[in-house]
Amino acid sequence: MSRPSHSISALPPTSLVYSFGLRVLHWLTALCMFVIIPVAWYMTTMDRHDPTRGSWVNFHKSIGLTILLLTLIRVFTRLSGTAPPLPQSIPAFEQTLAHIGHGLLYVILFAMPISGYINSYGGGHPVNWFWLFQVPAVVPQDKALGHLGSRIHYWLAFLTYALIAGHVLAVVYHQLIQRVDVLGRMTGRAAKR
Ligand code: HEM
Ligand code: HEM
Repeated sequence: MSRPSHSISALPPTSLVYSFGLRVLHWLTALCMFVIIPVAWYMTTMDRHDPTRGSWVNFHKSIGLTILLLTLIRVFTRLSGTAPPLPQSIPAFEQTLAHIGHGLLYVILFAMPISGYINSYGGGHPVNWFWLFQVPAVVPQDKALGHLGSRIHYWLAFLTYALIAGHVLAVVYHQLIQRVDVLGRMTGRAAKR
């Protein structure tokens, strides 16, 4: 059925949920983050001479580069489509906080893998992606550069923890206190409303 192009009804209906692709990318990324962080804690507390340490580090790096790939696809998908606007019932100030928080999460999703990559390749330690192939080097082997990457990676890890904690708490707050189904926007449940 065709609609008059100048009427408001010609506008696409505002979706209440993120697209299927963005939802899958979000939960895959979240899963990777909840694996990579404990792996990082474990591998950095291991004995330097432990024969399995190298495998844990390679596993960490493989997940990290997967996160970078997922984030690249996600940002392209996000920019080429529309994301559902936040519900009107959420106060403007909280909407601003949400936008800043989400923006910083994206910054982290790029900055952590890139600094980790610089740390590794600067130090001359290539990544064997899930033991399938060696990831090419796009930065020179340079000890000072590697050290800079390591420092950035180390300090940004604290921001990562804070942002994820704040993100999850914000979702709990909106669900339980404000009674706004933000989770349904990322699970697809809100579409049935
Ligand atoms: C979102 C992705 C990533 C997260 C959240 C993450 C998180 C962490 C955390 C929390 C640590 C422990 C803190 C520290 O000692 O620095 C760590 C260490 C490390 N990460 Fe990552 N990482 C990510 C991606 C990567 C990637 C892609 C690589 C390399 C290609 C990498 C290489 C390393 C290395 C080599 C260490 C040991 C640090 C050292 O001993 O200098 N990470 N990572
Ligand atoms: C149990 C863990 C998590 C839950 C329950 C959760 C839940 C959600 C929900 C409900 C939204 C939609 C917010 C809205 O209404 O617009 C969202 C968005 C988002 N989440 Fe998570 N999340 C989790 C973990 C993570 C992790 C680990 C990351 C990355 C480090 C992350 C990154 C993001 C980003 C960047 C957005 C904004 C999406 C966009 O607008 O493009 N989330 N999350």
